[in-house]
Amino acid sequence: MTEHIKSDVSVITIDGPSGTGKGTIAHMLAQTLNWHLLDSGALYRLVGVGAEKKGILLSNIKELVLFSLDMDVHFSRLFEGSIELNGEEVSNLIRQESSGELASLVAVIPEIRAALSERQLAFRQLPGLVADGRDMGTVIFPDATQKFFLTASPQERGERRYKQLINKGLNVNLRALLLDIAARDERDSQRAISPLVPAEDALLIDTTELSIDQVFEKVLTTSQQVLSKH
Ligand code: DC
Repeated sequence: MTEHIKSDVSVITIDGPSGTGKGTIAHMLAQTLNWHLLDSGALYRLVGVGAEKKGILLSNIKELVLFSLDMDVHFSRLFEGSIELNGEEVSNLIRQESSGELASLVAVIPEIRAALSERQLAFRQLPGLVADGRDMGTVIFPDATQKFFLTASPQERGERRYKQLINKGLNVNLRALLLDIAARDERDSQRAISPLVPAEDALLIDTTELSIDQVFEKVLTTSQQVLSKH
């Protein structure tokens, strides 16, 4: 279980499935407020990628936990540019679809979630933290100052992801991508521990019909209102 140490440092959590724009919104918000940013998905991706590189089987939970606790990670500010894992530059590697798949597989293991929780809590530093993930508002920062949960239809999320990958020059098949998204959603929301569900006190935003700028406007205005009363 995650120990909840009382903290006066403000946290804004942005949870939801992939393809809702939450990573972009979290980044824009952290930059605007000049706060720290936690991309928690990157940590699960690093465990998946790192374990694969070391030849650790996903069934070898003991080794996986040791790896998660010991991995030496360097993020550049706001997770822009370089991400180093045990001295090796892995920012492009961890953004690949295959790494997302590995991340989703390690993320169902309760021992891995527990092993990563300390690292995530350590990001909570002044002047404040924007935390992006699946369980930021429910499990890691239940006392967050403001919680958001972004959604979008699976079709829209698939199309957004498709465009991103095509723009990167990758050869992708939209139908296969939609099936992958559906399988990953199912795994993330049905797992026994820390499933992908909105916190009861989260503000839900359906981004299907909204542009990134419209979502950001809503998130920023709400956050500023809450912070001015804090
Ligand atoms: O946000 P992302 O696509 O980088 O996340 C990759 C996977 O990691 C996602 O399929 C589920 C898992 N994850 C999680 O279980 N909890 C988090 N807080 C963040 C990500």
